[in-house]
Amino acid sequence: MATTCQSWIVYRQVSSIDTGAREILPFRFGYACNALPLPNGVSVTALLEIEDLRTQFFTSAGTVQAVDGISYTVEPGETVAIVGESGCGKSVGALSILQLIPDPPGRIVGGAIRFQGRDLLQASDQEMRDIRGRDIAMVFQEPMTSLNPVLTIGRQLTETLEHHLGMSRPDADARALELLGMVGISDPKRRLRQYPHHLSGGMRQRVMIAMALCCEPKLIIADEPTTALDVTIQAQILELMKDLTKRLGVALIVITHNLGVVARYADRVNVMYAGKIIERGDAGEIYRNPRHPYTLGLLRSVPRMDLPRKDKLDPIEGQPPDLTRLDGGCPFRPRCRFAVDRCATEMPRLEAVDGEHFSACWQADALTATERVAS
Ligand SMILES: Nc1ncnc2c1ncn2[C@@H]1O[C@H](COP(=O)(O)OP(=O)(O)O)[C@@H](O)[C@H]1O
Ligand code: SF4
Ligand SMILES: [Mg+2]
Repeated sequence: MATTCQSWIVYRQVSSIDTGAREILPFRFGYACNALPLPNGVSVTALLEIEDLRTQFFTSAGTVQAVDGISYTVEPGETVAIVGESGCGKSVGALSILQLIPDPPGRIVGGAIRFQGRDLLQASDQEMRDIRGRDIAMVFQEPMTSLNPVLTIGRQLTETLEHHLGMSRPDADARALELLGMVGISDPKRRLRQYPHHLSGGMRQRVMIAMALCCEPKLIIADEPTTALDVTIQAQILELMKDLTKRLGVALIVITHNLGVVARYADRVNVMYAGKIIERGDAGEIYRNPRHPYTLGLLRSVPRMDLPRKDKLDPIEGQPPDLTRLDGGCPFRPRCRFAVDRCATEMPRLEAVDGEHFSACWQADALTATERVAS
């Protein structure tokens, strides 16, 4: 039965992430508010809110605008994908959340990163260390670089459990065993005594997922977690991550250059190009009905399970732009066959094209179904 506790909610005025317009959102407090009847169009505060984030690198070749004003949200338990070609700012965006940008040469120069309503950019170093170990965990592409080669798998897990959760050694040992079982590692007792080099790439990535789950985080950020693995293992690891995060109610940001992977595993997708989010929407909708020429190009360059098999995939011609030399126009225009004059001088804003589907393209409406099929 829903508890009525309207008086427990304070509504606060915030800038809309995409339109810049002011709107009222509820700021939750009080534990009984999950079941609240909220006014139409009002949602509860997101687990993570990134607003107009800008991260730059100051190099001898110029200022790299690696992340250039991105905004997105992640709701509790949701899987959000960040997709784009190499070098478009996916990892820098993720590392910015955890404040792991090397400074110098990098720096977050603007925006806000709110985790459970709190601006992480205002957190102290100690608070960030606690958040990194406990609330937000990260899984990287190459587990070998994240695992300590001279510690057993068991010790790496128990160290984290003892340090962040204050567990006794016997409790930590029992929990480590349980975690390895959860991530599908067979004979976990034996594996706990082994070193990372004894394990295959897929096994190591399972260990990384176990480590990420150690402290029961609210959010896991997985940066190309399966890129280094072969295709069958990739599918298994992604399936495992999806299953575990859904079962445990953990939100997941999955970063990938492969839009084909996303449709099956993500709830929502943010497509990035040249440091910006240029399309956002429900994963199925983006897959079926892309409204940005770059997303369309990404889809044509990966095998589609929902379309007849093609002999040949079509990679997007040309290269992404140099992020030290961006002008005021749309950075995709040298590669875009839909470009019009306006594209050279004005960068379109990310705007709603249909409900929760957003695109930053002057030609979003011209990208009709017929053209998409013909292209
Ligand atoms: N330490 C660094 N120094 C200078 N430039 C960097 C550094 N790290 C990343 N960049 C630049 O930031 C941009 C975005 O990089 P990244 O987020 O790693 O891309 P990806 O989308 O492949 O994850 C790239 O142009 C990259 O060269
Ligand atoms: S704004 Fe213009 S150049 Fe950019 S993607 Fe759209 S049509 Fe192409
Ligand atoms: Mg990367």
